[in-house]
Amino acid sequence: MMRMQLMPLAAAMALLAAAGLALAHGNVTPQPVDTTGLKALGDTWVTENPYRADKPLYEKAVEIGEKGYELNCAGCHGLKAVAGGMAPDLRELEAGKTGDDWYIGLTRRGVERNGERKMPAYEGTVSQEAMWAIRSYIETRQH
Ligand code: HEC
Repeated sequence: MMRMQLMPLAAAMALLAAAGLALAHGNVTPQPVDTTGLKALGDTWVTENPYRADKPLYEKAVEIGEKGYELNCAGCHGLKAVAGGMAPDLRELEAGKTGDDWYIGLTRRGVERNGERKMPAYEGTVSQEAMWAIRSYIETRQH
């Protein structure tokens, strides 16, 4: 009886460990985010959060951004943007225009360090509408 209960647990733990390893190496595939309801931004990436100035639009962006964040970022940066030690805590990001510019540049290309991918590049899979929505959501989680 004992044995039959322990085996699946061991298997589950092995799976979890493998998933953690993949995350630690940045080997995760970005997932497209549905941005229905957000103003379309066109092909040229802007460098300042285009949703912040308009309150109803911003609220919509935060809502979509929360889903986008949980789908694409939480695995490494933590649920609700509370980091678990695997990647930086995004609540510490600089606010405003300077922080926007830096955020969008970094997330478009991801992070590669010494030939090792630490974070995937989001450009090409996740739209800029979704990336700004995620930025909006993260802002609401800042101190
Ligand atoms: C596979 C894990 C992983 C995923 C998924 C991931 N990141 Fe990261 N991210 C990292 C790591 C690791 C770093 C630190 C890289 C370094 O500087 O060595 C980082 C750094 C960052 C930074 C810079 C933070 C700082 O203070 O230096 C930002 C901004 C960021 N990520 C945003 C995002 C967003 C937004 C998403 C989702 C769209 C995301 N990341 C998804 C692993 C990940």
